[in-house]
Amino acid sequence: MIWVSLEEPRRQLPTIEEFGNDEWVWVNCGPYEWNAHSSRQLENFTDFGHFPWVHPGLLGDINRPVVPAYEVRTEGHVVKYDIVRPEAPNTDDFPVFANVSTQAPMRTSHYEVFTPFTLLLHLGWGGKEGMVYFFVSQPVDEEHSRGFLIIGRNYNYDQPDSVLQDFEDVIFNQDKTIVESQLPKKVPYDITRELHMKFDAVALAYRKAMLANGFDA
Ligand SMILES: [Fe+2]
Repeated sequence: MIWVSLEEPRRQLPTIEEFGNDEWVWVNCGPYEWNAHSSRQLENFTDFGHFPWVHPGLLGDINRPVVPAYEVRTEGHVVKYDIVRPEAPNTDDFPVFANVSTQAPMRTSHYEVFTPFTLLLHLGWGGKEGMVYFFVSQPVDEEHSRGFLIIGRNYNYDQPDSVLQDFEDVIFNQDKTIVESQLPKKVPYDITRELHMKFDAVALAYRKAMLANGFDA
């Protein structure tokens, strides 16, 4: 992944502490080419309310669909939030998460959204096992995006990369169907232009941060 600034960089690139640590292994997934603006692709990645509905049995538990309470805070150009939420047990096809011994697993997620289109997510299940998701959506034009995903983990060292790659291909294709149907193709950052529910606090914070950082409504 190469970052280019044609002028003086306005923001720091995110730092991923685990990159230099040899207890962590990394898998490249994607790229995921969508017929939607990067703002839609990024916002989709921030959202956890859809997991039981769009990814039942893979990322969410349809029997526990209620979004738990959570707080969002914005620091400069970074939107941060933490959530502890119900997750689906691992499946035989995709045993990718470290929640194997739990019947009704809970997942802790720490999100950092770097406006405009970069997201860093730390996952855990209460033990020392963890995952890092680093997602960047490259804007191709106003209606097309290309998502790059790098996933780190500190367990399951012998698992072939293809397991996680195949898993993410399924997840991203489930999302793609939904997001490509959303109009307008670009997220309206003016929060009065779409209807928001209480659990959309992350999307609201993201849209406000985009406006505050000079991106057009
Ligand atoms: Fe999704």
